[in-house]
Amino acid sequence: MEIPRNPLELVFDDIYISLDTILENNIVNIKLEGFSISGSIKIKSALRMVDRLEMSGKIKKGDTLIESSSGNLGVALSIISAVRGYKFVCVTDPNLLSTSENLMKAYGTEIVKITEKDENGGYLNSRIKYIKNIVSKDKSFTWINQYENIDNVDAHYSSTAPSIFKKFQKIDYLFVGAGTTGTLSGVSRYFKLKSPDTKIIAVDSVGSVTFGGKSGKRLIPGLGTSKVPPISKLSIYDEIVYVAEQDTINLCKQLSLKGLLFGGSTGTILSGICKYKNEIKADACVVTISPDFGNNYLDTIYNDEWTNKYFNKIYLQGELA
Ligand SMILES: Cc1ncc(COP(=O)(O)O)c(C=O)c1O
Repeated sequence: MEIPRNPLELVFDDIYISLDTILENNIVNIKLEGFSISGSIKIKSALRMVDRLEMSGKIKKGDTLIESSSGNLGVALSIISAVRGYKFVCVTDPNLLSTSENLMKAYGTEIVKITEKDENGGYLNSRIKYIKNIVSKDKSFTWINQYENIDNVDAHYSSTAPSIFKKFQKIDYLFVGAGTTGTLSGVSRYFKLKSPDTKIIAVDSVGSVTFGGKSGKRLIPGLGTSKVPPISKLSIYDEIVYVAEQDTINLCKQLSLKGLLFGGSTGTILSGICKYKNEIKADACVVTISPDFGNNYLDTIYNDEWTNKYFNKIYLQGELA
């Protein structure tokens, strides 16, 4: 690899770790997305969405981008905007992690925090209502709209999925977390075409409405929604596993004591794999994607005061395998 000359070239699609500590009978292969410049998988979606807007002539240097984000996409768009000369307004809510907020501010982003809950008890609808109102009145704003943007899916169809497909001979189970479902939709469509025998297991948080059900309280950003993302209709999965945030925290804490500081969604996905373990044949090839590391969650998931406040006492499930 040539030495990069632009921060946006620091996107790594080929870093994995194989753990034998998650399941007793299987190695779990984890694709690590946290090494890229923005610290998360969202740099790939952000780049694809902005590139496409530029290619179609819809935006140019100096324009203002606006997007609803609970953190990682906002940070990725902040970096892209700083590199390419856009103004960026991130519309978010009180669940925004303080590190994500500080990062975005450091890159020059304007942050708008919506505090009014929507009819589902979350903030997503309120955030989107705010953006729709602004873009309808002021044509100088361009809305990225990750929940409906096909390029959010395409980013993973054309990079994340082929990179996983190339790495393993045969994958029996591929676990993918669902937020906007950009990753799930892109990866699942690619695998259903190229490797139809691979079982795709979607992992969602308890309290998310993405695949139906009632909205419930969720505090960890990344996975789950309070409004069905339109691009979720593109996802093709064999099963869904739901994980309670208590289990997410539990797993994150157990793994940090083994030297791996994962973000919340990775904890949720790995906990989902543990929940699903009785369905997994011994020695089957299990693969998953870790969207980010845990550095941004030091004040929440990895802070006992916070976890004790919101989740009572964290119970221990017992040792990992
Ligand atoms: C940490 C983290 N995990 C998972 C996801 C979900 O990815 P997707 O939006 O592609 O479903 C996100 C999305 O923002 C995220 O930030």
